[in-house]
Amino acid sequence: MPNTGAQPGAGQHDGAYPGSARSSGPSIQDLLDTDTRPVPVALRDHSYSYRGSADLPKSRYTSPEFAALEAEYLWRYTWQPACREDEITKSGDHVVYDVANESLIVTRQADGSIRAFHNACLHRGTRLRDTDGRVGSFRCPFHGWTWGVDGQLTDLPCEWDFPHITQSPETSCLPEARVARWCGWVFVNMDPNCEPFETYAAKLIEHFGTSFDFANRYVTFHAVKEVACNWKVCMEAFSEGYHVIATHPQILEFTGDANSEYSVWDDSPYVSRFVNGFGVQSPHLSDTLSPQQVVDAYLEFAARMPRGSGLTVNDDANPRALVAAILRTGMSARLNTDLDALSDSEVLDAILYHLFPAFAPWAGLGQPLVYRWRPGRTPDTCFMDVWRLAPVPDSGEAPAPAVCTRLTLDQSWKEAPRMGGLADVFEQDMENLPMVQAGLKSTGKRGVSFGNYQEARLRQIHQMIDQFILRGLAREGRNASEVERYLVPEG
Ligand code: FES
Ligand SMILES: [Fe+2]
Repeated sequence: MPNTGAQPGAGQHDGAYPGSARSSGPSIQDLLDTDTRPVPVALRDHSYSYRGSADLPKSRYTSPEFAALEAEYLWRYTWQPACREDEITKSGDHVVYDVANESLIVTRQADGSIRAFHNACLHRGTRLRDTDGRVGSFRCPFHGWTWGVDGQLTDLPCEWDFPHITQSPETSCLPEARVARWCGWVFVNMDPNCEPFETYAAKLIEHFGTSFDFANRYVTFHAVKEVACNWKVCMEAFSEGYHVIATHPQILEFTGDANSEYSVWDDSPYVSRFVNGFGVQSPHLSDTLSPQQVVDAYLEFAARMPRGSGLTVNDDANPRALVAAILRTGMSARLNTDLDALSDSEVLDAILYHLFPAFAPWAGLGQPLVYRWRPGRTPDTCFMDVWRLAPVPDSGEAPAPAVCTRLTLDQSWKEAPRMGGLADVFEQDMENLPMVQAGLKSTGKRGVSFGNYQEARLRQIHQMIDQFILRGLAREGRNASEVERYLVPEG
């Protein structure tokens, strides 16, 4: 009988209550049980709770008014990655971090610390820096007001005319955002009263601290592209394995797409996780593949080994163990580092964390990527960053980080040097996105529907966005009824 992916599997829930139904086939926890190495403890920390089934208003993705609410109450109040520490190694090195209507200059200080200043002149508002680089001071191009890299005003032409500015640090220093550093990343938060990064990202910090060597990495690839859809449409397209069957059917022979695991933790609302197992066939395929077929298909894709190139696989073999062993050896040689202790899961699987609102680091080495999303100039565009990280070689010397490639709306990821085969998969994803954005404007469909389990993380992110908007309105004494038509309905 064809396996439709809808029947309950052994040990899995049968859908007796909302969100409890699961695909047939082995769960991620089942796969971890067969790993040939000790499995990172964080991968055993799986949690799901039902978050509702009601349609979301489409206007959340298309309305300029909702985008303005996000600009006002979301992007200014959440922790976001601005850059990597190794982009700003010397005093005066800086990166300009633009998000929604805001801009920060993230800069290295003489004492090695990192500070982030609002990128707007205290005179008449001119952006102080448009580009990354290294400077001795920040000098406004309009009338020449100048600040040191520590944000102190050092020069003001015709100072005699501005005693009201020079009278105190409050009026003369550049306003600052909060900064946190984690595993080589520099995070910023424009809210002076924000929750510390250490509690906001506690689950992420705990999981990577106990289980994944994320700090000891350097950037081998970075590109940012303007994309023709809302930032949430783009983010959602990279946050579930549900789309594999239609968008990436070429990988079904070795991808447990519908058996992916999605974790949301009630005590950690800013962090969620998605794990997609590889080296196991999709439950969507009607035929049961032999271990030989799974191994051949995966090695053709991941190691460009032609099918039937010599590896004979017994019918009782574990395909994951076999392909993990081959990839582990290849990776160790290529990266000049000993990866023998790395679990099959870390070698093979897509282990994608998400830190609200829009930072997504992959934990394993099978997909050593990091994503970031930011809103564009209108609700119909956004920016997506992709980084690839590699472990620092055993010699201990990290090569210089790769320079960022900037791609316009009309350019393809294939134009980013060194993106390799990943660009083909990305282009498959990208083809959907303008069609999603266009379809959201059709009147025929009332709202956006999410799966109870596979898209629970997406619903949670939307619910969190609403929390920030409602908190912002309450701060200003505004009534929640003003925005009710945009909110995620209960139920
Ligand atoms: S606007 Fe910056 S010095 Fe006048
Ligand atoms: Fe995809």
